[in-house]
Order: sequence, then C-alpha cells, then structure tokens
Amino acid sequence: KKKVILDCDPGHDDAFGIMLAVQHLDVLGITTIGGNCTLENVTRNAIKVLEVLGAADRIGVYPGHSCPMVAPLVTAPQFHGETGLDGPVLPEPTHQPQNKHAVDFIVDTVMSTDDVTLIATGPLTNIAAAINREPRIVDRVKELCIMGGSVTYGNWTPAAEFNIFVDPEAASRVFNSGLHVKMTGINLTRQCELTAKHVAKFREIGTKAANLAADLTDFFIEACEEESELTGATMHDACAVAWIIDPSLIKAVPMHIDIELNGKLTRGMTVCDYRHLRGTKPAVDLERTPTMDYRGEKPNAEAALELDFPGFVNLLNSTLENYD
Ligand code: BDR
Ligand code: CA
Repeated sequence: KKKVILDCDPGHDDAFGIMLAVQHLDVLGITTIGGNCTLENVTRNAIKVLEVLGAADRIGVYPGHSCPMVAPLVTAPQFHGETGLDGPVLPEPTHQPQNKHAVDFIVDTVMSTDDVTLIATGPLTNIAAAINREPRIVDRVKELCIMGGSVTYGNWTPAAEFNIFVDPEAASRVFNSGLHVKMTGINLTRQCELTAKHVAKFREIGTKAANLAADLTDFFIEACEEESELTGATMHDACAVAWIIDPSLIKAVPMHIDIELNGKLTRGMTVCDYRHLRGTKPAVDLERTPTMDYRGEKPNAEAALELDFPGFVNLLNSTLENYD
C-alpha cells in the first residue's frame, strides 16, 4: 500500500476521501486544517469518521493551522453546515486529537520515511508551512496530490476555487516550491457528481460506512443544489484520493500552474498555462497530445482533465462494501 498523509478539512467530500484512503492506502496520519469549518470542528469530524470506520485506534489525527497565512479564514457553512459535517447523526468522539502539530507531524514523517505521498484536500496552509519549516521535504516527498484550483472557471468566485481562494499565499508557496503537484481542480471534480441513485445503492450496501456515505450525500446533494447550479453532490476531495489509489481513473496533462495573488477579480485563481496543447480546450480534447514545446515555464504540475466516473463509483461502492 502507498504511504500517505491526508491533510483535510472534513467536510462532506473530505469524509469520502478518508473512507477511500483508510481502506486502500497506508494512512500514516491525518492532519487537519481550518477551511470548510473551524479547526476544532474539522478535527472532531475527522475523528468521528475514523471511529465509524473502526480506524481511530490506528490512525492519529494531528490538528494544524486554524487560519490561512495572510488572509482571514473563510468557511463554507452553506455547503457543509454549522458543524462542517451536518447531516449524519454521529456520537461525540471518544478518541482525542494527537498532541503534536500537523506541520511537525508532516515534517518529521517525511524526513524519516521514504516515499511518502501527501494528499491535500483543504487550503494548503499546513503544506506551505511544512515546506517553510523544512525545505528538504520537497525532495523527500514522493508526490503531492491536491484537490483545489481549476483549469477553467472557479466556484467560490468566477475565477477561484474555494481551497485556493482561502489561502492563495500558501498555494503560491506550494506551486513555486519545486514540488510536482498533481491537481484535481473543479474542472475534473464536477465530473464526479453523486445523485439519489448512488445514495440508494449505499443504503442497499448497508454497512456502517455506507450508511454514513448515504447520510452525507443526502445532505450534500441538497446543499449543492441550493447553493450552486449543480444537480448532485460533487465529491471533489474523493477524486484526489482516488487518483492515488488508481491512477488509471484520471487522465491528466503536464502544465505550468501559478497562483494569482493580487487580482481584484482573480485572487486565488490557478493560472494554467496550456499553450502547449496546440490551442485546444484541454478540458474537452485529450486526443491532441501535448507538443511538449512549452512557450512559458516548464510544467510544475499535472492537471487532471478527465475522470472515469463509472470506475470511480465502482471503487467507492466496493470500498463501502468492504467495511464492517
Ligand atoms: C473544495 O472546497 C471544500 O468545500 C470541499 O471540501 C473541497 O475541498 C471544493 O472547492
Ligand atoms: Ca475539503
């Protein structure tokens, strides 16, 4: 199993990321970041999800930064409710968060363990802080896969996706660090929409994990439909985890990506240079292979463009079946 640290802000779709990761990856620890909700709440939510999965004894949860590097924290109660994980009724957790800061955990683990993959599904504050604390992690990390940004349009603003919008300075630090970033932006994750039909399947599976998935999706479908143009629950964060579990589920192209920090309309935008794709629209035309004739800077990232959604659903259903 691949060794991973999952940095997240659960969050309904983060919870799906946890469910996939715990079963298919060697999760060395979960680190939390203020984002969808306060640090306190997202940390509690991560522990609650691990307890449902029966994994809270073996996987520690390490609280990280409570707010972004520069900007004030923005949360998303309209999508995730006041607790950050509204919908399912879960008991108060019996496990405690670890007594070590997320950034220390990331640095110590990466420096002492070979081939660690980082998966980040919230604002990139902890990852940026870890790079600042110990720049050598850049050469030690196997890969960094994030949910964030977009090669097309935004969701939080016309230009910016939520995770990058919340802490653009951290995202800029990460994209300019030398780390090769695998990016599942919302251009990709919008191909991952769960509807009532998927919820019915989860209920039929009927494990504790599947019931949690069903309750989460029910709440999230309603929130997504009310708050946006969407017609289902977009499982953004689960896509980043699925990419690490089964790379064949996603098609991606290399490109250079940087973060807009100053634009009045575009702060938090992932500025994606796809001029090497022969002027095609990368989100719809994968037949035209990249020319590799880069006009700008060399790629620092791989942008996910196409998801095998039926393959994703199969992975998710079999995962939920295999929990107790
Ligand atoms: C991202 O924002 C959060 O609300 C979700 O958990 C996801 O990580 C989508 O823009
Ligand atoms: Ca998230």
